Amino acid sequence: MTASESPTLLLRRVRPYGEGAPVDVLIRDGHIAAIGPDAGADISSDVEIQDLDGAVLLPGFVDLHTHLREPGREDTETISTGSAAAALGGYTAVFAMANTQPAQDNQTVTDSVWRIGREVGLCDVHPVGAVTLGLKGEQLTEMGQMADGAAKVRIFSDDGMCVYDPLIMRRALEYSAGLGVLIAQHAEEPRLTRGAVAHEGPNAARLGLTGWPRSAEESIVARDAILARDAGARVHICHASTTGTVELLKWAKGQDISITAEVTPHHLLLDDSRLETYDGVYRVNPPLREAHDTLALREALVSGVIDCVATDHAPHAAQEKCCEFAAARPGMLGLETALPIVAALLVETGDMTWRDLARVMSTRPAEIAGLTDQGRPIEVGEPANLAVVDPDSPWTVIGDELASLSANTPYEGMTFAARVVGTVYRGRMTSRDGKVLA
Ligand code: DOR
Ligand code: ZN
Repeated sequence: MTASESPTLLLRRVRPYGEGAPVDVLIRDGHIAAIGPDAGADISSDVEIQDLDGAVLLPGFVDLHTHLREPGREDTETISTGSAAAALGGYTAVFAMANTQPAQDNQTVTDSVWRIGREVGLCDVHPVGAVTLGLKGEQLTEMGQMADGAAKVRIFSDDGMCVYDPLIMRRALEYSAGLGVLIAQHAEEPRLTRGAVAHEGPNAARLGLTGWPRSAEESIVARDAILARDAGARVHICHASTTGTVELLKWAKGQDISITAEVTPHHLLLDDSRLETYDGVYRVNPPLREAHDTLALREALVSGVIDCVATDHAPHAAQEKCCEFAAARPGMLGLETALPIVAALLVETGDMTWRDLARVMSTRPAEIAGLTDQGRPIEVGEPANLAVVDPDSPWTVIGDELASLSANTPYEGMTFAARVVGTVYRGRMTSRDGKVLA
């Protein structure tokens, strides 16, 4: 259904940004038509009415970092199931990482992912293009072709792998500046992480797990900040995970280098004490760090040193996770649990307002990606891409009940207070009370 065919929708009793008394929001032709106590006063009968009981209304979330696994691993996630998870999580746009099989390293694949995303129609699916062919780090892809295709690819990343060769990264940044696109780096110096499965520190040493030092991330962050400076390019750091990375971002931003960064909900919430049980569900790249890292990351997100939250939603099959820790695939589900975690850590503690949360989960990621119809203010005339959050609707995470085809959530059995109770995408409800609306 296109925006012009979408029905008129009345959101009754919502609180934009959680501020002030509840109002009604009228949505027509994919846009916000009226906001106020009487917004729905003289509407005709063919209006869909959703009574939302004072819930918080936010701009729909934008995820710069999602793994949808199609093409190639449709047994673990598809564009359809991943879009459903996104809709349930309050997301109206996701960026699908390039490490599919085959990789999203040419226009045929990126355009195909974009087209399937459009057909599914539950959120905007923007394919991320690979920086190098096959994510091998050796030869640049035709970024220009992917940028000019139907998908209009605007973010390029070899995520899962680091663009480790400084000369290749330098050229990628130079080309990206000319094309007006963004390189997103998975910062991991591979020479420092060979065989590594856990954060290098006292816990990994005691558990006998090979360590992934902070320096493997920080050395690439520092290098890429300097390369971006000299190329006059922008660079985005995926899943920042260490206190040192926060310090480097502070330094680079202080030098007016065009650098942005994201942090995942799992790096904000969990630390490497979880590895005690050797449960493969806690294996992730970069690894869960130490408690002081989680605190530094939270502070950096509040202060703006880290720009936004991104899920790194990484579905894996049961047999790839329920095995010896070192053999488990790295990655965790994230789309359906991001809002409750960020709300618990930062809004319920008083460190952030709902407006601040909208900045880190919607406005900033949309700006970083250059989207013009997402992350917009809740105002008359703006596109109706919205998330509805009930701050007090406790729910317990059960992996098997998530919309994702995989169940590898590290939050199994945890209860969170806030929950997404509705998502509006292009003027149409795509989820309501934990159900996807087709
Ligand atoms: O844990 C991770 N999983 N980190 C990555 O960078 C890639 C991702 C995946 O594709 O599973
Ligand atoms: Zn990554």
